[in-house]
Amino acid sequence: MELYAIIFSLLLCFMTYESSNAAGCAEVPQLSNADVSPGLLKSNYSSGDKLEYNCKHGYFPLRKFVYICDGKKWIKLNKTECTIKRCELPTDIPNGQYSIVNGNSFVFGTTIKYTCNKGFQMQSRFVDRTCRLDGWDNRLPACEEVTCVPDNIENNIKVEGLPDYGDLIRFGHRLKFSCDDEKLLILRGAKEIMCQSNGKWSSPFPNCEEVTCPKNATEDNIIVQRIPDQEGSIKYGHMLKFSCLDEGLILKGKRTITCQANGEWSDPYPKCEEVTCQEEELNNTQILVGHPGITPPYKSGQILVFRCTDVNMKMSGQRLIECQSNGKWDNPYPQCEGNVQCRRPPSMSHENADTKEMTRNKYNSGEKVEYVCFNKYVMEGDSFLTCVQGKWRGHFTCLKPCTVTVDEMDKRNIQLKRGGRGNLFAPHGDYFTFVCQWFHYQKGNISFRQMCRNGEMPLPECE
Ligand SMILES: *[C@@H]1O[C@H](CO)[C@@H](O)[C@H](O)[C@H]1NC(C)=O
Ligand SMILES: *[C@@H]1O[C@H](CO)[C@@H](O)[C@H](O)[C@H]1NC(C)=O
Ligand SMILES: *[C@@H]1O[C@H](CO)[C@@H](O)[C@H](O)[C@H]1NC(C)=O
Ligand SMILES: *[C@@H]1O[C@H](CO)[C@@H](O)[C@H](O)[C@H]1NC(C)=O
Ligand SMILES: *[C@@H]1O[C@H](CO)[C@@H](O)[C@H](O)[C@H]1NC(C)=O
Repeated sequence: MELYAIIFSLLLCFMTYESSNAAGCAEVPQLSNADVSPGLLKSNYSSGDKLEYNCKHGYFPLRKFVYICDGKKWIKLNKTECTIKRCELPTDIPNGQYSIVNGNSFVFGTTIKYTCNKGFQMQSRFVDRTCRLDGWDNRLPACEEVTCVPDNIENNIKVEGLPDYGDLIRFGHRLKFSCDDEKLLILRGAKEIMCQSNGKWSSPFPNCEEVTCPKNATEDNIIVQRIPDQEGSIKYGHMLKFSCLDEGLILKGKRTITCQANGEWSDPYPKCEEVTCQEEELNNTQILVGHPGITPPYKSGQILVFRCTDVNMKMSGQRLIECQSNGKWDNPYPQCEGNVQCRRPPSMSHENADTKEMTRNKYNSGEKVEYVCFNKYVMEGDSFLTCVQGKWRGHFTCLKPCTVTVDEMDKRNIQLKRGGRGNLFAPHGDYFTFVCQWFHYQKGNISFRQMCRNGEMPLPECE
């Protein structure tokens, strides 16, 4: 059963193929770069049927291509193909060149663009040319030399580099400007300009204006006087004179400033600032009135009242001083001195010292008290304290003695060279010589001769 089915379907297949072949020409052939004319298209072609093709836009020839059906297949009647339209090599232009905008050969649809060399500019409106069926479109453009046109030149300006009448100003040409009267006129704009490759000047033409200096705003506390005294703009050589409105203000900066040839002031505008008096060092005094009501910086008109730090002192100078409008005190700060007694001198036991004699409750300025160091301590410095205006002044130290026990010496296997066995207790500055104990030898490099220095003495060692 199955075998029959297979044979039957194979047979059917073969017959179908044969019948389609016999029916006429198969599907419409493709012709490159050409389109088939729709008028002759059918669903079913037989012997003698024709097809016509036209080359695509931009391709040649313009005549029709013909295919004919011979009953089985399509026969092409023409030998040639559609080929794209080629344009001739583009023409070069003087002082310029072309470049391809799109495409990579000079065929239908390609666009080229012309540009001019530096110093030349395009004369023509259209700079593109495109390859069309009838060749390059547009006209061949042309480049002309760039020239700049000078502006009107005022009488008060001098120009260097202007060409003779009728001569063209070409790309790269420079003009230099200056003012007729350098003192009264100032050049506003570029000193030098150049004719650029686009036919425009690098900067606009400058002009010469009268020198004027700017009028700056001033604070209310300053008076400005014009020299010469006139209204209007401030010209070269004119001056301004300043003064402060109030006493208690001081002028910081130049009293007069001058308008210079460059249109700038010789100096910055000055300012009026409040006067202040310098704070000075106190010498046994206190400011009684002032602090905290009046604090530095002290202004003009402010008053300080002083008193001595100790009632037993005498003041020299003025008790009351005033800051003047010139920033100075009317009198210097007063000073105090006098016999201020000292209390009982301090115990110096923390320094290992005590007074030599019994002390009193009060001492006068200039009186001294002598101190002595404790046993075996050595005095360094002046052993006196002096009473100075109620304060004890002076400084000394008691240098400490050294102690070395027998145990410490045994641990290091050393003993004193002289003096036998026993603890050692010696003041600062004493020398000692050690030796190794019997059958021991020096270890390390610490010297055997040592001095006691403020309680410290390195010990040598033996082993
Ligand atoms: C093709 O043409 C033949 C004869 O002209 C016709 O018998 C047949 O039906 C056509 N086939 C189609 C699919 O139109
Ligand atoms: C193709 O051949 C036909 C018939 O000979 C002719 O009419 C036509 O002009 C030819 N076309 C071309 C492009 O040569
Ligand atoms: C004028 O004022 C400007 C801006 O405040 C300042 O930069 C300039 O220095 C002033 N000129 C003088 C001469 O003080
Ligand atoms: C303090 O006043 C005394 C006495 O006038 C003077 O000898 C001393 O130099 C003054 N000290 C200072 C720091 O001004
Ligand atoms: C002693 O020895 C120490 C190290 O053991 C060394 O640093 C030092 O320089 C030596 N001193 C002398 C004087 O030789």
